[in-house]
Amino acid sequence: MTAAVAVPRSSPTQAVILVGGEGTRLRPITSRVPKPVAPVVERPFVSYILDNLARHGVSRAVFSTGFLAEAIEAEIGDGSRFGLEVAYAVEDEPLGTAGAIANCESKLRAGNFFVFNGDVLSDVDLSALAALHVAKGGMGTIFLTPVEDPRRYGLVELDDEGRVSSFLEKPSDHEGTALINAGVYVLEPEVLEMVPRGKLFSIERGVFPRLAQAGSLYGYVDHGYWRDIGTPDSYLQAHFDILESTVYTAVAEEMGSQYLYVDETAQVDPGARVVPPCYIGARVRIAAGARVGPLAVLGAGVVVGEGATVLETVAQAGVVIGAHAQVEGSVLVRDASVGAGTQLVGAVLGEGVSVGAGNRLAGGICVYPGTSLPDNSIQFYEQLRGREGP
Ligand code: GTP
Repeated sequence: MTAAVAVPRSSPTQAVILVGGEGTRLRPITSRVPKPVAPVVERPFVSYILDNLARHGVSRAVFSTGFLAEAIEAEIGDGSRFGLEVAYAVEDEPLGTAGAIANCESKLRAGNFFVFNGDVLSDVDLSALAALHVAKGGMGTIFLTPVEDPRRYGLVELDDEGRVSSFLEKPSDHEGTALINAGVYVLEPEVLEMVPRGKLFSIERGVFPRLAQAGSLYGYVDHGYWRDIGTPDSYLQAHFDILESTVYTAVAEEMGSQYLYVDETAQVDPGARVVPPCYIGARVRIAAGARVGPLAVLGAGVVVGEGATVLETVAQAGVVIGAHAQVEGSVLVRDASVGAGTQLVGAVLGEGVSVGAGNRLAGGICVYPGTSLPDNSIQFYEQLRGREGP
């Protein structure tokens, strides 16, 4: 591989989106739904990526799928709903990030392309990333973001000209803020020649370090919003960031300057309180004396009983919250139910989980689909955000 290529380049108009992972860390939110289409403020997560691509002139995206491929295709379809054309390259078994990109080759048009990890929420200026790529003329340009603890990511160092001087995947011993690979980059098609076909191969371990050594990998540093939604805490926080417009999304436009969206088919009792920022979906019912928000997302058909409190929480479609229940800092996956008077603090209930009345679950507890807890069966206390059990 030569250090730099003198051929004039243009900005990419196509993208590969990596969505073949199992999303194990996000279970039970992803026990039944693949992470890329897990609902985030009532939209499949990856639609936020598609919006950003479309905003920056990308007209075609190839989804690199594997795990639960059909579920992703069923949700995203041909992409027309999101303003671009979507094609799919399905793996029979996981090929790793580089293998997965190479597997998309026959679905890509000639020329360079963006690559997105399918779990990145960001309003990064893709046009600026592409412009830097074109100006520098390397084989690849990575969007870099600073994080306080880079050990879970690819640590990147740049020289004075913005060239990547070292790329170290998941360094075990690094302390302090550092620039990491944000999981968004531009590649020239020649890079695919470095990837062996049909076997597991990682871009982070097998390609980026070699490109860096050849002086052909550049970094685009952006201090704007970036988050990967790989864990339940991060998934919840992504909702808050969208509700508060910390990241620019189409949802912000729906909510407007009041930071509030209440669907016209929702029924909010005049004796209930809805405190923004809040998103109340279609056919939601909120009973008298209930308080919802701040920072609550109620998906379609959610029912909040009399006197219940729901704050800093995501309740996906079909969730039922009983009278005088208190739900805080929690994620309730679709069709979960919470009995009267139950308290949830920092809990994650999987799809269809039923927690009977008079329970207390706290401290990051995850309940997997298929579970039914009877009334008065658990009193799980743990100090959390200053709260203690009796
Ligand atoms: P965890 O199991 O929780 O680590 O999540 P994950 O499987 O999504 O893995 P990770 O977060 O490291 O992956 C980053 C992105 O790359 C995600 O969008 C994955 O869907 C995607 N990805 C990871 N490995 C593969 C692969 O072998 N094939 C494809 N097509 N995509 C992959």
